[in-house]
Amino acid sequence: MQTMTDSYTLQNGVTIPCVGFGTWQTPAGEVAVESVKEAIRQGYRHIDTAARYENEQSVGQAIKECGVPREELFITTKLANTDHGYKATLEAFERSMEKLGLEVLDLYLVHWPNPLAFRDCFEQSTAETWQAMEELYQSGKVRAIGVSNYFPRHLEVLDRTAKIPPMVNQIRLYPGYRQQELVEYCRNRGMLLEAYSPLGTGKLLDAPELVPIAERYGKSVAQVCLRWSLQMGFLPLPKSVTPARIKQNLELFDFSLSSADMAVLSNLENHCGPGKDPDTIDF
Ligand code: A2P
Repeated sequence: MQTMTDSYTLQNGVTIPCVGFGTWQTPAGEVAVESVKEAIRQGYRHIDTAARYENEQSVGQAIKECGVPREELFITTKLANTDHGYKATLEAFERSMEKLGLEVLDLYLVHWPNPLAFRDCFEQSTAETWQAMEELYQSGKVRAIGVSNYFPRHLEVLDRTAKIPPMVNQIRLYPGYRQQELVEYCRNRGMLLEAYSPLGTGKLLDAPELVPIAERYGKSVAQVCLRWSLQMGFLPLPKSVTPARIKQNLELFDFSLSSADMAVLSNLENHCGPGKDPDTIDF
C-alpha cells in the first residue's frame, strides 16, 4: 500500500510527493496563507499554484513562514495564458518566482496549450514558449517542466521543435472522468498524470453511488475519490481551505479500494459536466 511519504519519480529522476495541495479558487490573502500553512502542518509537502490563480504571493508567504525547510517542499506553478512566447515566458517566470520568493522552482507547467491571444499563431507560440521552458530547465532554475490541459494534438505540435519532452500533464481527472485515451497517450511518453479537480470540484461528494462505498470503508467520499486517484496512478491535487478537510484529504494510506469498487468509481457517470476544450476557451 502506498504511504503518505510516497513519491512518484519523473522521467528525469526528480521525485514528487504523491499528493499535492491544490489552490485553484483559493482566494489570495489570509485564506490562502493560512490554508497552505495548515496543509504543511498536516504533512503536505507538495503545493500546486498558478499565475492565473492570483495567489502566488500568499503561497510564497506561507512557504516562508511555515518553518519547514525549502528543500523539503515541492512547489509547482504555471505559466498564464497571456504570457506565451519566448520572451514573455521568461519574464512571467521571473514574476512568479518573485511572488513566490523562491530561487528554484520544482515544477513549471504551461497552463493551457492554446490561449485565445495566441490562437492565430499556435504553432509558433508553442515552439517559442517551450524553448523558454527548456532554457529555464537547463539553467537549473526549474527542476522539472511540463504542461497542463494538453491533448495529444497539442503534444504533437510541441514535439516538432522540443528537445526536452514535458514530464507532466496536469489534467481534469476524477471518478467518472478518467480520460482514458489521453492518459494512455501520456503514459506511453513517460509522462506523469496529475489530477486536478480530483473531487470533481466538490460535486462528487454526495454522489449516491459513492456514499455507501465510503461508509463500508469507514472513510469519507472525498477520501475514496482521492484513493481511487492514487490507485489509478494519478497524482491528486485536492483543494480545501477547511482545516479538518485538509487533514482528511491526506488520510489515504490506511485503506485500499477493492478492484470491484475501483471499477464502480472508474465507470461512474460523469457528475460534473464536460471539461473545457483548450482550443475554444475564451481566455
Ligand atoms: P473547501 O475548500 O471549502 O473546504 P476539487 O479539489 O475537486 O477542486 O474540490 C474542491 C472542493 O471540494 C472545495 O469546494 C472544497 O471545499 C471541497 N472539499 C475539499 N475536501 C473536502 C472534503 N474532504 N470533504 C468535503 N468537501 C471537500
